[in-house]
Amino acid sequence: MRNESDRTVAVSVDWDAEAARFDEEPDHGLGVPEVRAAWAARLRAWLPEPPADVLDLGCGTGSLSLLAAEQGHRVTGADSSPAMVERARAKLAGRDAVFLLGDAAAPPVGERLFDVVLVRHVLWALPDPARVLRHWRGLLRPGGRFVLVEGVWGTVTPVGIPAGRLTALLAPLAADVRVEPLSAVAALWGKEVDDERYAVVATV
Ligand SMILES: C[S@@+](CC[C@H](N)C(=O)[O-])C[C@H]1O[C@@H](n2cnc3c(N)ncnc32)[C@H](O)[C@@H]1O
Repeated sequence: MRNESDRTVAVSVDWDAEAARFDEEPDHGLGVPEVRAAWAARLRAWLPEPPADVLDLGCGTGSLSLLAAEQGHRVTGADSSPAMVERARAKLAGRDAVFLLGDAAAPPVGERLFDVVLVRHVLWALPDPARVLRHWRGLLRPGGRFVLVEGVWGTVTPVGIPAGRLTALLAPLAADVRVEPLSAVAALWGKEVDDERYAVVATV
């Protein structure tokens, strides 16, 4: 029988192969104006007043990075897929943004600290999320925050990280942990969804 922690299994996806078509999904590429506006509004609410230093881990093609940069933040993105990083660099060319090739679990940012660790749909697939969160905590300035967008997808063999588990992992690391359910907000996904989707904003 599965238990909750079984859902955070290491998954094997060839993200380089996925990169070319990744932005075709409305919530990935944010090419549909209503979807883009919905994510922009949420991000504005979740992020501090600009300009802040935002670290977007597992940044993919840089869609959230671009929204953050458009809102006046300084963005550092990191992804382990060269094809994703290449697209993110192209998408944010000319912006106050840099993209690094590396492991989200231990991003190659040296001694730099950030105001925000922003992660969408990545943590659940990393081995040992508890250890990863502790590492990310060390990348935040005092008063900084995690902005984590995660969920549990699928019904037959669900994968992901339930909000209850993520908030329990964050409790020892953050002074304030707030969960925002997102399943009912079709505009974010470009369609109706009935699985668990949420954001956690956790201030340290
Ligand atoms: C589902 S996509 C999400 C992309 C982006 N965060 C977004 O919301 O549009 C997962 C991304 O995480 C990246 N990724 C997966 N495992 C990673 C790891 N260990 N280190 C860095 N990036 C990773 C993949 O290359 C891919 O770009």
